Amino acid sequence: MPTFFRIFAQPKTNNKHIIFMHNIRKINDDLIYVGASDRRLALFENVYPVLDGVSYNSYLLLDEKTVLLDTADASVAHRFFENVAAALDGRTLNYLVVNHMEPDHCALIADLLLRYPDVTIVSNAKAITMIGQFFDFSLEGRTQVVAEGDTLCTGRHTLQFFMAPMVHWPEAMVTFDTTSGTLFSADAFGTFGAIGGNLYADELDFDRDCLDEARRYYTNIVGKYGTQVQMLLKKASSLDIKMICPLHGPIWRTDFGYFIEKYDKWSRYEPEVKGVMIAYGSIYGNTENAADILASMLADKGVHGIAMYDVSKTDVSVLVSEAFKYSHIVVASSTYNNGIFTPMENFLLDIKAHALQNRTFAVIENGTWAPQSGKLIRAILGEMKNNTVLEDGITLKSSLKQNQIASLEAIAETIYNDLNK
Ligand code: FEO
Repeated sequence: MPTFFRIFAQPKTNNKHIIFMHNIRKINDDLIYVGASDRRLALFENVYPVLDGVSYNSYLLLDEKTVLLDTADASVAHRFFENVAAALDGRTLNYLVVNHMEPDHCALIADLLLRYPDVTIVSNAKAITMIGQFFDFSLEGRTQVVAEGDTLCTGRHTLQFFMAPMVHWPEAMVTFDTTSGTLFSADAFGTFGAIGGNLYADELDFDRDCLDEARRYYTNIVGKYGTQVQMLLKKASSLDIKMICPLHGPIWRTDFGYFIEKYDKWSRYEPEVKGVMIAYGSIYGNTENAADILASMLADKGVHGIAMYDVSKTDVSVLVSEAFKYSHIVVASSTYNNGIFTPMENFLLDIKAHALQNRTFAVIENGTWAPQSGKLIRAILGEMKNNTVLEDGITLKSSLKQNQIASLEAIAETIYNDLNK
């Protein structure tokens, strides 16, 4: 069987009319990729911009029994069903393993059962309950409930199930093929971005081209659940994993250590980089100017790779991701409606919601007649766990003045010394 299948619709000539097109990928003799990518989607989960699209991965195990591991999002239904049919090549579908019941993976379950009415759904009790919540078809006699460590033998392969609650929903689980060493990891180890031919992380310059989107995916989707991710990593460490097949983004078949180390850091809320992120919320540019001068002071001291963000024009999912990356975060914000400038408040509430910890913050506030943002920013940061907020701060009354340069320099000095201790 060739490793790549693509049959284009042909014109009706010589009685030869191919009326289907599919794009499936053979991973090995028994496993076929039947997922599809959506490059038209503007907002994943209707909130996260995905400029490079997103893939909805699905895998078909062709053993003595046939097993589909998760379905896909409704947006790729047509291609998904063509892919499944092509990969089955006339065989029936015996099992559907449901690792995760979020609709980007489960939306097509009802349609799948219409096409393959004899399929048995294999999942845990929580997921089966959710199937009943999302759909109206009868589940009677159509499910096989599994719990932690249970196995399903499909012929040559034995699948073992491990619960992964809150990675990313409570019903989430992962499936380990003990025969091939393949971990079907659900949302874990996923990455934003469509799959453009290269199905494997080792076919890409992942660190250069994909890591930012992997981090943005992890931090925004699963970042709140670091403890639960740690539990999953612990379970995974006892398995002899040869390949990781996530529900989004490329498959991992080499160099797992690189990605697992990132997951370990992110889920322990450890900074990935000892460095500085400066996030500023500026209405007319005066707060931005103070942030810029601070950045220059840091650069003069030898701080490299400073990440500057205008919170008004940067999607908050990028800001959250960058906050997970850097060890030191400067928050510079105008006062607005007697509160924090709205986009900055949104950013701060989002990192609080995502349980960001172990960071050092510095605060710069601005306000022409009643500066309030600094006090309110410190209040939000104070509600978060295990962070340090530098006592040194600056209050701008409309704009930075010459007599405040020394205070700004002091903040730069403190951050620099902290980075180098
Ligand atoms: Fe990719 Fe939690 O769904």
